[in-house]
Amino acid sequence: MMTSRVTDPRLAIDFCGLGFNSPLVLLSGCVGFGEEYTRVRGFSNRDVGAVCLKGTTLAPRLGNRPHRVFETPCGMLNAIGLQNPGVDHVVERILPGLDFAETRFIANVSGSTVEEYHEVTRRFDDSPIDAIEINISCPNVKEGGVAFGNDIAMSAEVVAACRKATRKPLITKLSPNQTDIAANARACLEAGSDAFSVINTLMGMAIDSERRRPVIGNNQGGLSGPAIKPIALLKVHQVYQVCRRHGVPIIGQGGIQDGRDALEFLIAGASAVGIGTALFYEPLLCRDVNATIGDYLTRHGFKRVVELTGSLCLN
Ligand SMILES: Cc1cc2nc3c(=O)[nH]c(=O)nc-3n(C[C@H](O)[C@H](O)[C@H](O)COP(=O)(O)O)c2cc1C
Repeated sequence: MMTSRVTDPRLAIDFCGLGFNSPLVLLSGCVGFGEEYTRVRGFSNRDVGAVCLKGTTLAPRLGNRPHRVFETPCGMLNAIGLQNPGVDHVVERILPGLDFAETRFIANVSGSTVEEYHEVTRRFDDSPIDAIEINISCPNVKEGGVAFGNDIAMSAEVVAACRKATRKPLITKLSPNQTDIAANARACLEAGSDAFSVINTLMGMAIDSERRRPVIGNNQGGLSGPAIKPIALLKVHQVYQVCRRHGVPIIGQGGIQDGRDALEFLIAGASAVGIGTALFYEPLLCRDVNATIGDYLTRHGFKRVVELTGSLCLN
């Protein structure tokens, strides 16, 4: 039984059979391997329903050359390049140190080939991890990542391969850098995805005009933060049209920095909401977001947060 700091039972959700004590999810790449932020005084994983770990590959990766991050108006560019210690290290050394009584932990799987996605998923299947998120939308690696996620057939192939490797909840992280995200979601659903994360970062570039060079070592990076929120809301709305008939949940994300933003994603169709970039400037944000959602439920006469999902009334 999970102990929880979120005391408002109205915020609890069922996510693919997993009990989340809050709809909030800490996003992959923004909280290391679930233990980094716990060093911040006052921060607790108990304030959220789940924590997504950093993207993990079969072999360790050193990531891209610097600069890897750059602040932009209302957002940031990053091109970390999936730096991680490899799946065996994560399973054998990191997972045993995590407190699964505090929250749910979700692995984030990446690969350069379909076989690598399958194998990393298989190794996480044989671990205490609660769910597996497939990142077919990373814009910062040369092979795999968004190259798969922007191609509907390849996306479905990766999902099908991962599905064969696990019975744990499988969440597909969709790319906003494609023409028809709803068509991609439909194909991934048929291939066995249980849920979706919408959206990953948008590809972007920053230029140092004095040097006439891109600022980011990788030349391009993924744009996150409030700058992408309107795009993310539309993509969640579009994917929800595919998901709602099947009761498939979405983790809405992209630029959430307060409770109001979180509410907008829930209303657009998300069952859970992810917080990433905002943690870099406000690591203690989650308690306020929970409180704002609770206050909204009271003011609008909702009994539980699930009633908000997809409650958007179109004009
Ligand atoms: C520094 C950084 C690293 C990230 N690394 C990953 C990753 O390893 N895997 C992944 O699926 N998404 C990764 N993301 C994307 C986030 O999980 C999230 O989907 C995206 O940033 C949008 O949410 P936000 O605007 O709240 O940050 C990363 C984002 C940032 C800013």
